[in-house]
Amino acid sequence: MGKYEEIFQKSIKDPSGFWGEAAEAIDWYKKWDKVLDDSNKPFYRWFVGGELNTCYNALDRHVKGGRANQLALIYDSPVTDTIQKFTYAELLDLVARFAGALKGLGVGKGDTVIIYMPMIPQALIAMLACARLGAIHSVVFGGFAPHELAIRIDDAKPKVLISASGAKEGTRVLEYKPMIDKAFELSKNKPQKCIIYQRPFVKAPIISGRDLDWDELAAKASPADCVPVKATDPLYILYTSGTTGVPKGIVRDNGGHAVALRWSLPNIYDTYPGEVYWAASDVGWVVGHSYIVYAPLITGCTTVLYEGKPVGTPDPGAFWRVVSEHGVKTLFTAPTAFRAIKREDPSGDFIKKYDISKFKYLFLAGERLDPDTYHWAHDLLKKHVVDHWWQTETGWPITANCMGIEQFPVKPGSSTKPVPGYNITILDADGKPAGPNQTGVITAKLPLPPGNSPTLWNADARYLEAYCNMYPGYYFTADGGYKDDDGYIFVMGRVDDVINVAGHRLSTGEMEGIIATHPDVAECAVIGVGDNLKGQLPIGFVVLKAGVRKAADEIKKEVTKLIRDEIGAFACYKETAVVARLPKTRSGKILRSTMRKIADSEKYTVPSTIDDPATLVEISQALKGIGYAAKNDECITL
Ligand code: COA
Ligand code: AMP
Repeated sequence: MGKYEEIFQKSIKDPSGFWGEAAEAIDWYKKWDKVLDDSNKPFYRWFVGGELNTCYNALDRHVKGGRANQLALIYDSPVTDTIQKFTYAELLDLVARFAGALKGLGVGKGDTVIIYMPMIPQALIAMLACARLGAIHSVVFGGFAPHELAIRIDDAKPKVLISASGAKEGTRVLEYKPMIDKAFELSKNKPQKCIIYQRPFVKAPIISGRDLDWDELAAKASPADCVPVKATDPLYILYTSGTTGVPKGIVRDNGGHAVALRWSLPNIYDTYPGEVYWAASDVGWVVGHSYIVYAPLITGCTTVLYEGKPVGTPDPGAFWRVVSEHGVKTLFTAPTAFRAIKREDPSGDFIKKYDISKFKYLFLAGERLDPDTYHWAHDLLKKHVVDHWWQTETGWPITANCMGIEQFPVKPGSSTKPVPGYNITILDADGKPAGPNQTGVITAKLPLPPGNSPTLWNADARYLEAYCNMYPGYYFTADGGYKDDDGYIFVMGRVDDVINVAGHRLSTGEMEGIIATHPDVAECAVIGVGDNLKGQLPIGFVVLKAGVRKAADEIKKEVTKLIRDEIGAFACYKETAVVARLPKTRSGKILRSTMRKIADSEKYTVPSTIDDPATLVEISQALKGIGYAAKNDECITL
């Protein structure tokens, strides 16, 4: 039996023994009474009775243990032309002081705090300061519009909102303050205070009595100590898109999360204390939480926080400059970033300009890694290129080629094998285990390993409905795919209404809800269609109310503006087709997946339940009108 097989089998046969051993790598105030509590299935809890503090594990213990002068954080911001370095001792001091400031505002254990920030050190400091106090942070991606921020405020009910005066998107300055003020206006549960970090290039006006200046607060605060919390207490809530307009509040506990992430760095990423790890993502996404902040710091690595893009800041050599300048061993990003680099530097001339000898691994996740991009990156870099699959819900990888355990030959298009702890089973349409190479829904037999979301914030019933009820005893990933004869997993895409735009997860259901508010729209449908750069792009189809005579172009502009204003520009919503009717089943269900196949020029079967097959032809024509589905007519199977 190979090393991977041995470790994997142990993790499945004896999860308590396996994760109990892994938990020794974490510092606890009090050890757990039970590693795995399965007394309330399917709500499994890890390390019950244990007490720890995640910030202590990320900072204090390294300072005490000899890493005080090692770099903890390198902030590299080509958009502001800044590089700032923080040792573990310096970062601890800043975090403890800011925790003191929060404490002074009455923030304590179990309180919620929303962090709406660009990619600046203060975002990490705020997250770690919350963790230090046992407060629960909820980071909201800075690209979200006020409406989305307000939804999250209302659900999380934060005592304090922490933000900054603005960000730079390339050369454009984005002011945050008008968006924050708008979100306050829209929300019902307004936070008591709003802390603003003033950036030098844009000054936010302060509302007296509510808004506080970060620097002033931190200057007069005294450092706060770590507060012990239960292993099962929440560390954070991270909202993610589901199939409806209401985002799901993914909850992460303290104990299981720390154990899983600490285990993942050496075993999956082959990365160890003292080495430099860079996740080129955003703190607003799960990758940012797990692999910009918590995993590298809990492990004692140096983490890189990059405020820039893969291209245009200033050129497609940006990633190689950062890798070379900071001695990055492991880089983690989304395939989209590589497709963007490939488009601008197809022969890799920019790679040759830098010494990337310390660079060993490129990990990609967030969306499917297409074989072309895999080959391009691998052939030019001559480094390990590792596709791995995970979700906000899991918090760390489900399938991967575990570089620290045993390196398997790569099969492009596959994210290799289940990570120890994940008992992956493909189920067919009847919920029975599928055979090798048979496509079905990907599930994981319960219990899931530590670090996975134990439930949704204040929504146990929704958790059961979304993940557990469909196939009792299994976690439903909502991804489809298959396992081949060698046990490699191929993740082919979502089986629900979630789409993936440049590695960003978005709900078409939510977009439909927003478009439906347009006064001229009677009905609408949104689908995700394939895009060479961003993986998928949303396209809307609208049926206008009787008597509306507006030009299609005007409708299109208004609908685009609606989505930008309500969700954000990063949704990349640009195309709307005005149609006379939508294809539906006789019972009235819109045939979105058939529409998607038409748009992607895939073969499709006209569903026997369709009300009127002619509606599909109309959709095909509408798509052609906006530049899609040129070949679809040959693809219809009747
Ligand atoms: N705050 C505010 N606005 C943002 C934003 C943020 N954090 N991120 C993106 N946007 C805006 C952009 O300014 C742009 O607005 P515009 O339509 O007014 O020009 C829009 O959202 C689309 O942005 P983006 O997706 O970045 O498109 P792009 O064409 O500028 O760049 C890529 C293309 C490929 C370089 C970029 O999408 C990218 O870096 N992708 C990788 C993303 C990633 O790492 N995802 C992984 C999450 S795990
Ligand atoms: P998020 O919760 O934003 O991380 O998005 C999770 C979704 O992204 C998954 O359910 C998949 O659909 C997709 N995804 C993430 N990583 C991969 C991958 N390596 N291969 C295929 N799809 C992926």
